[in-house]
Amino acid sequence: MTKTRVLTGITTTGTPHLGNYVGAIKPAIAASQDPSVQSYYFMADLHALIKCQEPQRVQESRLEIAATWLALGLDTDNAIFYRQSDIPEIPELTWLLSCVCAKGLMNRAHAYKAAVAENEAAGNQDPDKGITMGLFSYPVLMAADILMFNAKKVPVGRDQIQHIEMARDMAGRFNHLFKGQYFTLPEAVVDERVEVLGGLDGRKMSKSYNNTIPLFASEKKLLKLVRKIKTNSLEPGEPKDPDNCTLFQIYSAFATQEEADAMRQEYLEGIGWGEAKNQLFELLNEHLREPRERYQALMEDPGHIEAVLLKGAERARAEAAPMMDRLRHAVGLGRFH
Ligand code: TRP
Repeated sequence: MTKTRVLTGITTTGTPHLGNYVGAIKPAIAASQDPSVQSYYFMADLHALIKCQEPQRVQESRLEIAATWLALGLDTDNAIFYRQSDIPEIPELTWLLSCVCAKGLMNRAHAYKAAVAENEAAGNQDPDKGITMGLFSYPVLMAADILMFNAKKVPVGRDQIQHIEMARDMAGRFNHLFKGQYFTLPEAVVDERVEVLGGLDGRKMSKSYNNTIPLFASEKKLLKLVRKIKTNSLEPGEPKDPDNCTLFQIYSAFATQEEADAMRQEYLEGIGWGEAKNQLFELLNEHLREPRERYQALMEDPGHIEAVLLKGAERARAEAAPMMDRLRHAVGLGRFH
């Protein structure tokens, strides 16, 4: 049986938070346990350089993200788990793709367009002010990530769908120009059931809004942050609306159906915000205590993490190197026998 190849990348610029866990990490780890799937999960650390020129931040984030996935039980015998920057074939493929990718396609990328729009709104003479080639052409790097391993399914957030379509475009063009089935056309998978978690201020939990709850914050910090979640001014005893309530949403994301139903009832019966927050803290802490301990142990043993990632890179390169050979041949860069 040929396994479906599922691949996704995590940009290494931040510290994993509850929103990342519910929206991406948890479903990815679950999917990696499916025997009909071969999963490729990697730290998109070359992508990190586009947004972040703080070496320490990038370095720290890579370690934290790796430790997080391992602490939460990613089975690295099953899934291929690696750092993008350990696979030199990826930037090489990026160049081959750059040479078949229309510039006009990149002009239409959302991230680039948003940066241009910001410049225009700020009245800047140069619409490209402050925009690097990295930002402009990053969909090509992302296409290389995906096409390198002939991934069929790419789980991503909505904002990334366009990039997968661009990868399909490049794959099709390359196949056509060089007359072969070199690349599989990938598909974006957006799981409608996976929740976008709200953050401390009620907006989407996101590093850019500075409203996150780090997944492995200490117990004390976790309690402090849960207490900061924005609620309204209803008093204890007054019935509350569980829908459209960030606190309830986070609670439900971790609770069993029965626990969530019971909390819903308590809302209707007028539970006080202080009490609801205590219950949320207890629930989160119960779920996170053990992985938090594993996380801390892993963070103290970076050599172990390094070894796991190098093993992953070795497996990934065992596929990337022959693929790259074939592609070199295809474009006229093969060996003289
Ligand atoms: N750009 C993606 C993001 O910001 C991360 C990413 C990089 C990725 N390469 C990828 C996701 C390849 C899926 C496949 O979320």
